[in-house]
Amino acid sequence: MSLKSVQPGSLGVALRNVHKTYIIESQKIEALRGINLALPQGTAVSVTGKSGAGKSTLLQIIGTLDQPSMGKVLLNGSDVSTMSDSAASTFRNCSIGFVFQMNNLLPEFSALENVMMPGLIAGTSRRVVKERAVEMLAAVGLSGRENHRPGELSGGEQQRVAIARALLMSPPLILADEPTGNLDQKTSLAIQDLLLELCHENKMTMLLVTHDLELARRLPEQIVMEDGRIIDRGTS
Ligand SMILES: Nc1ncnc2c1ncn2[C@@H]1O[C@H](COP(=O)(O)OP(=O)(O)OP(=O)(O)O)[C@@H](O)[C@H]1O
Ligand SMILES: [Mg+2]
Repeated sequence: MSLKSVQPGSLGVALRNVHKTYIIESQKIEALRGINLALPQGTAVSVTGKSGAGKSTLLQIIGTLDQPSMGKVLLNGSDVSTMSDSAASTFRNCSIGFVFQMNNLLPEFSALENVMMPGLIAGTSRRVVKERAVEMLAAVGLSGRENHRPGELSGGEQQRVAIARALLMSPPLILADEPTGNLDQKTSLAIQDLLLELCHENKMTMLLVTHDLELARRLPEQIVMEDGRIIDRGTS
């Protein structure tokens, strides 16, 4: 697949002693317990670990969707806690491609409009955004389904729309939470190839959470989490 980047580049990530504690009815849940992590620009790393280990929390915090209870998150050397809410949301739209466990598509918009959304929010010309969105939907195998709303697509198809949307702007940082969890093996492999190829070609930084150990091994680096901590980091 040869999709040209519209915004090449990458984004380094550093976490310093990051903790995240949730307090629910006076019960403390320590989702992250002192994460230290440095990912130079262009690093692609898988994150594995049991359910509840803190993987999604880690991605939310790196993605500026949530704040750490303690510690610092640096993106390209800048402390994200000092960003205003509006600066953070502009930054997220242009610089981070999210693929969530729950795909968060807008139900009242078509597949094509959902994929176009980050481009329109960024103020890129509608014609350019549409062309690119059509190309992205084709890349995830959904040509011909442009005008279907999420409710008219299967779970796996919705997940592919979400992946096309995340990649639309070729963001320098991809945060993917079980991106191929809902897909059959053949589609999953095709989407994995697309993600890994785009990431490599555009030197994107990527954190990819997965329970699939074969997929984890396809990334150049692996992180293993347990009980809110990183317990192992290796390369393949
Ligand atoms: N908003 C929240 N409020 C309270 N507790 C939370 C919240 N989000 C996560 N947690 C708790 O934090 C811990 C880590 O959750 P997280 O979602 O990061 O796990 P995970 O590793 O992604 O698991 P899974 O593989 O099941 O997706 C869990 O014990 C979870 O119950
Ligand atoms: Mg999770």
